[in-house]
Order: sequence, then C-alpha cells, then structure tokens
Amino acid sequence: MSEAIKHKIAELSKQLEEHNYNYYVLSNPSISDFEFDKLLEELIRLEKEHPEYLRSDSPSQRVGGQVTREFKSVKHKYPMLSLSNTYNEEDVRDFDERIRKAGLSGYEYICELKYDGVSISLTYVKGELVQAVTRGDGEKGDDITANVKTIKSIPIKLRGTSFPDEFEIRGEIFMPKKEFLRINEEMRKQLIEEGYDEEEIYEKQLKNPRNATSGTLKQQDSKAVAERKLDCYLYSLLGENLPYNSHYENLMAAKGWGFRVSDDMEKHSTVEGVLKYLEKWDKKRHDLYVETDGVVIKINSYEHQKFLGFTAKSPRWAIAYKFKAQQVSTVLEKITYQVGRTGSITPVANLKPVLLAGTTVKRASLHNADIIEKLDVREGDTVFVEKGGEIIPKIIAVDLSKRDMFVESAGPTKYITHCPECNAELVRSEGEANHYCPNEMNCPPQVKGKMEHYVSRRAMNIDSLGGETIAQLFDSGLIKNIADLYELKKEDLLKLDRMAEKSATNLLAGIEASKQIPFERVLFALGIRHIGETTAKKLAHYFKNIDALSKANVEQLLEVGDIGERIANTIVAFFNDEGNIEILNKLKQQGVQFELTEEQLTATSDKLKDKTFVVSGVFNKFSRDDLKKAIEQNGGKNVGSISGKTSYVIAGENMGPEKLKKAEKLGIPVISEDDFVQMVQ
Ligand code: IVH
Repeated sequence: MSEAIKHKIAELSKQLEEHNYNYYVLSNPSISDFEFDKLLEELIRLEKEHPEYLRSDSPSQRVGGQVTREFKSVKHKYPMLSLSNTYNEEDVRDFDERIRKAGLSGYEYICELKYDGVSISLTYVKGELVQAVTRGDGEKGDDITANVKTIKSIPIKLRGTSFPDEFEIRGEIFMPKKEFLRINEEMRKQLIEEGYDEEEIYEKQLKNPRNATSGTLKQQDSKAVAERKLDCYLYSLLGENLPYNSHYENLMAAKGWGFRVSDDMEKHSTVEGVLKYLEKWDKKRHDLYVETDGVVIKINSYEHQKFLGFTAKSPRWAIAYKFKAQQVSTVLEKITYQVGRTGSITPVANLKPVLLAGTTVKRASLHNADIIEKLDVREGDTVFVEKGGEIIPKIIAVDLSKRDMFVESAGPTKYITHCPECNAELVRSEGEANHYCPNEMNCPPQVKGKMEHYVSRRAMNIDSLGGETIAQLFDSGLIKNIADLYELKKEDLLKLDRMAEKSATNLLAGIEASKQIPFERVLFALGIRHIGETTAKKLAHYFKNIDALSKANVEQLLEVGDIGERIANTIVAFFNDEGNIEILNKLKQQGVQFELTEEQLTATSDKLKDKTFVVSGVFNKFSRDDLKKAIEQNGGKNVGSISGKTSYVIAGENMGPEKLKKAEKLGIPVISEDDFVQMVQ
C-alpha cells in the first residue's frame, strides 16, 4: 500500500513538473489549468496524508506557504560581480579595441539582453535546486530558496541526466510588464475605494518592474510571492565540471536541462555585428514582455575570459551597454488642475501630443506646487518628457533654449489659489505637498465622487444608479448629498433626460433595497478618508453602532488595532463636522442600517469546519486568545501541538524554530495572522 502511494506521489510529481515545463519554459501548454489544478490538489492531499513522502523538490512547493522569518546570509562560492557600463557606439568600439590590444584574436562575442530585475544565483546538486541566493553585496547574499521555488519557470528538478553533479547557474528574476501593470491597476482600484487621491496613489504604487520584483522577493511569506507571477531568464553557468568550455554552448546545454534561456542571444565575431544587435534591440525591446535596460556583451570562450581577467569590481571580458531612456521634447500647452474625490488638487501638464516608446503622450502629472517651482515650468515652454522603466511619462526638464520672450516675461507659473470647480480658497496643511479644496459639502467633483462611491457595488450596491445619472441629478439640483437620494420621487426622475418609467422604477427599488445593506458596508460607503472595506468592518464590529463610533476619541480608536493616528484623527474630524452629522441623521431616519444586527453580533460560521490549528508565537494585530476564539467561532479546532493531522500553523513572531521545522517536515502550511483573517473573511 505505502509503496503504491509513494509511487503515485512520484508519478504525479513527474507529470506536474512536465506540465510546468511545457507551460512556463516552452510556452506550450499541454493540459488545461483546470486539469493541472486537479492533479496538484491530489498531490497535495496525498503528501498531507503521507508526509513521510513529501520531497523538497515536489511541485507542491511551488504554491508557497512557507514563511521565512529571517533570510539566512550566505557567502557566495564565486563572488557576484557587476559590469561596467557603456552608453554609446564609441564606448563599445573602445571595448573591442582593448580586447585586441590585450592580444586576443579569433574571439567571439555573445550579445544578450540585459533584463531589468534582481539577479539570483541558483545551486543545483544532483539535479535538484538546493539553494537560491540574492546578489547582496556581491560577497554574501540572502537565502531566498522558498520564495524562488514558487517561480514556475525555475526548475526544482532538472531534466535528463547530462548535467554536472553540482553547479551554479545565475540569472535575472523579473516581473513581466503585464503583471506589473495588473498589480498596479488592482492596487489603484483598492486605493481609490479607500479614498486615497491621485498623488497618494502615485506614491504608493509600484514604481517600476525592478522594484516590484525586489519587493516581492523580500516577502517572508512565500505564498505572497507565488501570487505575483515572477519569471526568470538564466544567463551564466559556474562550476567545476561544465560540459563545454564556452559560455554560449553551456547555456544551450542548460536549456536542455529545463532552464529558461533567452532565444534573443546572438553570437557575433565582429564589433560591427554587435553594433547591429544594439541598434535592432534599441527599438524592438519595447515589444518584449519583460523590461530591459540594455545589452550585455560577453566574450564566449572561458579560456579567453580567463586570459582577460578582472578589475577590482568587474570582468574585463564583458560590458553592459545601456539603452538611452526614451526622451522627446514637446510643447506644454496648458497647465490644468484636477480636483479629486477627496478634494486634493493635482496639476496636469497638457502637452502637444507626441509619440514616446510606443504610446502617444498627451498629459503628464506635475504632482504639486513644489515640483512646478523646482522645474520652473511654464505654459508655452518646450519640455523634455521621459519614459524610463517607470511606464508613466515624466517631465524631467524645461528646454530653456526654446523659451521665448513672452514666456520669459510672464514669469514663473502662479499656482492657483482657488478651486477651479467651486472657487473655494485652497488650503495646504503644514508638511503636506498638496493643496486641498476644503469645500467638501458643495464642491461638485467631491460631492459627485462621494455619491458614486456610496452607490458602488461594494458599498450600497445601487447598481441602477450610474455616474451619468448622478451627474444629472446633481446638476439639476435634485440631490445635494447622499441623504437626498432617499427623498427622490418618481415624477422628479421622469423629468430627467433619457429616464424612462422602467429605469425610474428600478432606480427607486435599488435605493429602497440599499436600506438592508449591513452597517459595516454603510460605514465603508460613507467615504470617510482612508476607511477601506477592511477598516470599516473592523470598526463596525468593534463599536457595534454608529453612536458609539461617533463618540470615540483618538485613544479609543487606536485600541481597535490596525488603525493609526492619521486614520483616528480623520474619523474624529468626520464626526465633529455638523454637515456630516446632519446627513447621518437623515440617513438614519430613512432606515439605513447604523448598527450590527443581532445575527451579526453573535455571528458564527462553519468556514473552518474539520480544520485544526496550532497558534504559536506573538502576534501584532490580535492576541493569541482572540485568534483561538475566532477559530472556534468559525467551526475550527485548536490543538496544542503539531502533528500530521494539523491543517495549519498560525505563526507569530518568536515562534520556536523546532516547531517551525516540524511543520516544514510534515508539510503543514505555516500561515500569518493576515492569511488567517483572509481565510475567515
Ligand atoms: S552577466 C560579471 N547577463 O546586470 C557579471 N547580467 O551589472 C555577470 N543582468 O548584476 C552578469 N541581464 O543582475 C549578465 N544577460 C545578462 C544580464 C545581466 C541582466 C544584470 C545582473 C547583473 C547586472 C550587471
């Protein structure tokens, strides 16, 4: 029996690795995602039931779940050096000249793209990935093996048998451009819902795919790494018994062992060939799915490499050629100012449309008054616009040589003093970069924005009411704030353009139905700055009703957990505002939910039915007892020690290393308190 299970586990592992390879390395999937998931689920189930057969090279390790408290520092067997940079054709010709002068002839160059990510050194022993270490300071790096195992294009186990017993392979882990944009877009939606304005969103978003990669790899929870789809190209082999005596040929062999090696490498025997490669990729790189910032030019033969040797920091046999950041100049026609839902003002440069790195650029954010002053940018100026790895275009300077006498004599840009929408005088708080329009209750974009948020799907879910109708209702004076929605009459609605009997009935029904939306969502719907869904939920459950919440002071709010001083102050300010209180009273009279229902107060669920938990260590957000109570309330069971039957270990800080080891050995997922909250939410 147990032999059969061992065999089944080995068989499933082999199949899954084969599918992974087809999908991630060859880009040629052999089964559907659904079928793949079924196989993986079966493997995970068998391994859980028979932890004695769980191998460190099992494909189940790719889904993550292992939490590394602190990355171990590891000394590199071969130091990880950097390359000297060159920026133009002449520099590259000089490099070639130096090699010839050193006495080499008949050498070959290998041209490769320089991928913009995080370099990694992987050690394989007997065909199994045993360690993955970051570059660090070049001498020592961090052991991030658990995180690296979640990257599907990196083999955990090699194919065939022709690889050396032990070797290192180095490459670049990167985040594909599409994944970078997807994560930023998701983050943006979330932040908008939480009431952040454009500038704050800009600050919080991932700046470029490289930062995003390095941030992801530093995550302690490998599950978080698995969720962000990182990828990796391998570009160099190191070891005693490599099959060939040259770089290119070894990489080709490594391709056969299951590594992802770029197809865009080229071999050239003259510098002219190298220059052609540079020219080709200067343009073509924008079509790639990965960000590149240059080309690496390497001498192919190891003997030649050895002959040329190293300087203190970098090899003499290779250089990096950096692409110029794409830059164009265009005319700044007008500076306009946007008013966000929260009243923050963003100055925007409206540009004469210009093509840059594959897209037409018409607008660029100028961020705030300080930036405008620093750049001394004025309407009518010619400006340089750059698009680096940042994806978002940026004005980097004014071309002063093109400034005409009219612009010159007009003097520096005068930042607006009054709101372009409602004419209220703008304010700028101490230490803040942004100006705000304080007229929260009457400034049209702020009021309309608040209403749109109020009716949105995750808030009051009045889906019969879209942005356009809100604008119509507001502009015609029928509603001035969210409370007025509940006083709308059918005859009023029918007066609106394109509003038919049926839509009017639907709309009123939607508004009526919103009175059943639970308190926690009403709280989120109010659009108090920085109060997202999670915080709203927490506050609702802590204070139970709006009266208690509205009376809370900063100290009491800080006790809720996960609420900092800034949010606490915002909440207190919100409930100190008479206008807000008036609206809240009206909503209450109309029957909107402002307290938890009896049911919610004694809520239980069976989400954790049949699951057993070990809670260990010290936690930041909850006490250990809170966690245990939550487990029971959701139908789960608490146990004291880890065994093969444990479903999850919730690990806090200072969890004993022995416990962690045991969980790892038995293949029991170790999760954080945040993971747990997600589980029960
Ligand atoms: S070879 C001796 N090849 O660029 C250095 N590096 O400054 C050998 N990189 O840290 C590096 N793509 O992170 C090499 N095709 C490529 C590369 C590449 C990106 C990165 C790598 C390295 C840095 C060089």
